[in-house]
Amino acid sequence: MKPAMPEAENELVNITIREAEPGDLDAIVEIDKQVSGVKKARYWRETLEHYSGQRGSEFFLVAELRQSVIGFILGEIRAWEFGSPSCGWVYAIGVARDHLQQGVGSKLLDVLCGHFRQADVTKVRTMIARQDHELLSFFRSYGMMAGPFQQLELDLENLRTD
Ligand SMILES: CC(C)(COP(=O)(O)OP(=O)(O)OC[C@H]1O[C@@H](n2cnc3c(N)ncnc32)[C@H](O)[C@@H]1OP(=O)(O)O)[C@@H](O)C(=O)NCCC(=O)NCCS
Repeated sequence: MKPAMPEAENELVNITIREAEPGDLDAIVEIDKQVSGVKKARYWRETLEHYSGQRGSEFFLVAELRQSVIGFILGEIRAWEFGSPSCGWVYAIGVARDHLQQGVGSKLLDVLCGHFRQADVTKVRTMIARQDHELLSFFRSYGMMAGPFQQLELDLENLRTD
């Protein structure tokens, strides 16, 4: 006889991934605060307003379980930035602390990648802090690898003005 599925895996089938709506703002702010330690209500309000424009290349999705938002993902298709043909970018992802490691993040990324594929995009990219082992493990386990670009930066106070 097959072993019973753990409760968390059972829960995954009850999770819906849908477009974010203005009423999701508080939940998104709270999840982001849990994962980043910073409350950014204004940033998320403006981002939600911007992404609800339905341009077909921008995606703000949430994971919902029994009328509660338990995760979000933000992504966009961009063409020719950094000389790259159209590619899908993952800008942000977050899963509520009490729903971690139950497949919610993967389900959000699956749906986002599905939107990218529907738009005939063949690559997905993201950028993460080197020391962020949680995100790095998550994206690596999804199959993402180091890409061909190198990020550069400069402290502007060191910029020569002469
Ligand atoms: C990264 C994150 C999205 C993963 O969400 P999740 O729902 O827990 O991920 P999943 O359950 O789909 O995990 C898929 C795989 O990722 C890897 N993974 C996930 N969390 C991990 C962790 N803490 N450590 C190591 N590997 C991890 C595992 O390989 C896992 O597969 P497994 O469960 O079979 O081992 C979540 O931990 C999170 O929100 N972290 C904070 C993100 C953040 O800082 N966002 C702000 C900037 S964008």
